[in-house]
Amino acid sequence: MKMRAAVVLDAPQLAFIEQTQPMSAHWGEKGFASEIANAASRIWCWEEEGEIVGFLALRLVADVCEILNLAVLPAACRKGIGFRLVTHALREVGSRGGKTISLEVNITNLPAISLYTKAGLKEWGRRAKFYNGKDDALIMGIHL
Ligand SMILES: CC(C)(COP(=O)(O)OP(=O)(O)OC[C@H]1O[C@@H](n2cnc3c(N)ncnc32)[C@H](O)[C@@H]1OP(=O)(O)O)[C@@H](O)C(=O)NCCC(=O)NCCS
Repeated sequence: MKMRAAVVLDAPQLAFIEQTQPMSAHWGEKGFASEIANAASRIWCWEEEGEIVGFLALRLVADVCEILNLAVLPAACRKGIGFRLVTHALREVGSRGGKTISLEVNITNLPAISLYTKAGLKEWGRRAKFYNGKDDALIMGIHL
């Protein structure tokens, strides 16, 4: 079991995990490869027995960070991996000079909202009908 930074060869497995979780963003292999190559981007993976089972992607620009994508394979859910990924991101962003972390989450996505709340994020605002012109987005964030 270990946390590590993603490399471009991980893009197919990251895209596979994303496909198993409809509430994650949908970047596809190419999207992951270009995000990994982006200097402002960080993607951390959680590995078990040599296989990536979860990831978190963010961008840090100056001291402002946004979490852009997060997913854990369904079979690996509810074992603390999502929480480890989010708390790792908070520590890493803080140590790199980040002052705020925020994200958008579908208001119906109670598991993710509960996870972010457990990690200390608060509701900062809402965007009406943000997802498919239907569900509101909750903007959540934390000052580091
Ligand atoms: C959200 C997600 C990453 C959580 O990953 P996970 O590894 O299962 O989360 P953890 O086991 O670390 O759980 C941490 C906390 O999250 C919350 N949580 C996770 N799954 C939950 C569920 N199914 N129902 C309610 N709360 C849940 C709980 O508060 C939990 O704390 P607890 O175990 O003390 O109750 C995972 O469900 C997922 O991949 N969802 C689909 C993608 C997604 O929604 N991404 C976020 C988009 S903004």
